Amino acid sequence: MVRKTALLVGATGLVGGHVLRLLLESEQYAAVKVLTRRPTGMSHAKLAEYIVDFDDASALAGHATDDVFCCLGTTIKKARTRDAFYTVDFTYPVSIARACAASGAGQFLIVTALGADPRSAVFYNRVKGEVEAAVRAIPYRAVHVFRPSLLLGTRNEKRLLEGIAGLLSRALAPLMIGPIGKYRPIEAMDVARAMIAVASGDRPSGTYESSIIRRIVRGEA
Ligand SMILES: NC(=O)c1ccc[n+]([C@@H]2O[C@H](COP(=O)([O-])OP(=O)(O)OC[C@H]3O[C@@H](n4cnc5c(N)ncnc54)[C@H](OP(=O)(O)O)[C@@H]3O)[C@@H](O)[C@H]2O)c1
Repeated sequence: MVRKTALLVGATGLVGGHVLRLLLESEQYAAVKVLTRRPTGMSHAKLAEYIVDFDDASALAGHATDDVFCCLGTTIKKARTRDAFYTVDFTYPVSIARACAASGAGQFLIVTALGADPRSAVFYNRVKGEVEAAVRAIPYRAVHVFRPSLLLGTRNEKRLLEGIAGLLSRALAPLMIGPIGKYRPIEAMDVARAMIAVASGDRPSGTYESSIIRRIVRGEA
């Protein structure tokens, strides 16, 4: 088996943390590079961690890899301004995608969100749609876009609205089947599992909402 290398951004986050652990456990990856603004706290023979300033394009350049996993993101509440949100959810992912393509990466995998649409009247959905369009235009062998519904999992920080939405949707989950299955909240771990499965599968470019993500995890898609 030819073992690949992976580059991950967003490793200190909920989805990214799971992706990091899965990549380190995976026999398919010989090396895992993490670009991060603060240490992950992980130590592993396969792991190379680079503390970078994401505003500095030169810090993102020159990292040769096969697969790029982008799990960056913030919230309007944390970012405080629309401009700051746009920087994290659009500018940084596109800069990383461009830099890694220039270094020869073959696949780019990104987490956006359900409802992503560059024509949306909702700012959050519009930015997610714009970042999808921008990374799809970069010459990769394949670009894989994951559009999860509400993410479930244990966070170090409290997110009240997401907590309430999670409780409500958990109660309604048994009813959220068929075409509305994509709205059912999804475990962040399942998103990470699906990203690794898709990266390993040599698939053409694709877009995956929560119902498909679950089917990929079950080995049905
Ligand atoms: N929350 C949900 O229910 C939900 C639903 C659908 C889609 N999504 C999307 O899914 C993706 C992953 O979500 P998540 O909940 O796993 O994210 P998360 O836990 O908030 O982690 C976000 C990652 O981005 C990094 N980051 C944020 N601001 C940064 C900055 N200014 N400079 C450098 N790095 C920065 C964080 O680093 P630090 O740890 O240093 O802050 C962290 O590694 C995001 O794009 C999110 O929008 C979320």
